[in-house]
Amino acid sequence: MAAPGRQDYIPTLCTITEARRLTSLEKFFKIGLPDGRELDHRPGQFVQVSVIGAGEAPISISSSPTRGPHLELTVRKAGKVTTALHGLKEGDAVGIRGPFGTFFDIGRFKGKNLLLIPGGLGLAPMRSLIQYVIDTRDLYRDVTIAYGTKCPEEILFPEEIESWKRMDGLTVRQTVDVCSPSWTGPVGLITTLIPPLDIEAPTIAVIVGPPVMYKFVILELDKKKVPHENIVVSLERYMKCGVGKCGHCTIEHLYCCLEGPVFWLNEIEHLKGAL
Ligand SMILES: Cc1cc2nc3c(=O)[nH]c(=O)nc-3n(C[C@H](O)[C@H](O)[C@H](O)COP(=O)(O)OP(=O)(O)OC[C@H]3O[C@@H](n4cnc5c(N)ncnc54)[C@H](O)[C@@H]3O)c2cc1C
Ligand code: FES
Repeated sequence: MAAPGRQDYIPTLCTITEARRLTSLEKFFKIGLPDGRELDHRPGQFVQVSVIGAGEAPISISSSPTRGPHLELTVRKAGKVTTALHGLKEGDAVGIRGPFGTFFDIGRFKGKNLLLIPGGLGLAPMRSLIQYVIDTRDLYRDVTIAYGTKCPEEILFPEEIESWKRMDGLTVRQTVDVCSPSWTGPVGLITTLIPPLDIEAPTIAVIVGPPVMYKFVILELDKKKVPHENIVVSLERYMKCGVGKCGHCTIEHLYCCLEGPVFWLNEIEHLKGAL
């Protein structure tokens, strides 16, 4: 691992170039670094975002590095920092430290079928990977996205999802747990999307979502005989420093901020409390 740099400890003051509401709980931010600098992140990584007077919180990067030097964040209002972030608008400043953490190992994805399974807010980090895969589409075999949300109103980036559905070489399946009058698609838990899929080896499955989802999605992938060394998970833990100093994020001996959040399933499934 490289030695910590200045950007690991001291926030860089950045400017919000776009801020818009996505759902009743989530807000989207596009952020520019000073002088158009690049963050140099990889899909799956996160940044520590600070709002002066409120504090700092880890937030996944929602945009792919193939889409330009800016970074995009999807922020759910959950507590002090994220509520303060929701109060910010275009032109306001935020502090950014990072990028931190492990990322999706694209090198191992090449030549494989990809099954990307975001649940709820899990689409925030997964969107970075999806955009990356679209921009490097020739490197993979079949690509399928299986996205589930609690209700239609919680679907993130609906226009972008519709554009994915129209793309050649991309299969998109969606479901909601609970229907509302505007929804004409499938209703059921995200696990119901997996049985109808033709999953041929070699397939890499990537799961990002709320903790409750992992166990049941993995059971469905077991039925399709996807080996655990081909399953990738991104785990969220309570984090403070992001640089392996405070110990808030540990799973047994692992520091989730340094050795995660992205793990191969076979590397962590034996650890107590990992899933
Ligand atoms: C790697 C990573 C990526 C993330 N990406 C995103 C993202 O893309 N978008 C997004 O919206 N969120 C993301 N999160 C979650 C976000 O960082 C948390 O919701 C964060 O706590 C919000 O900060 P806050 O000050 O607004 O809320 P907090 O005040 O921290 O409260 C948020 C929740 O955390 C609980 N909490 C507070 N203190 C503790 C503690 N010590 N131990 C356990 N729980 C506690 C509170 O009860 C509350 O339910 C990510 C988290 C991680 C670790
Ligand atoms: S967040 Fe401090 S050690 Fe991981």
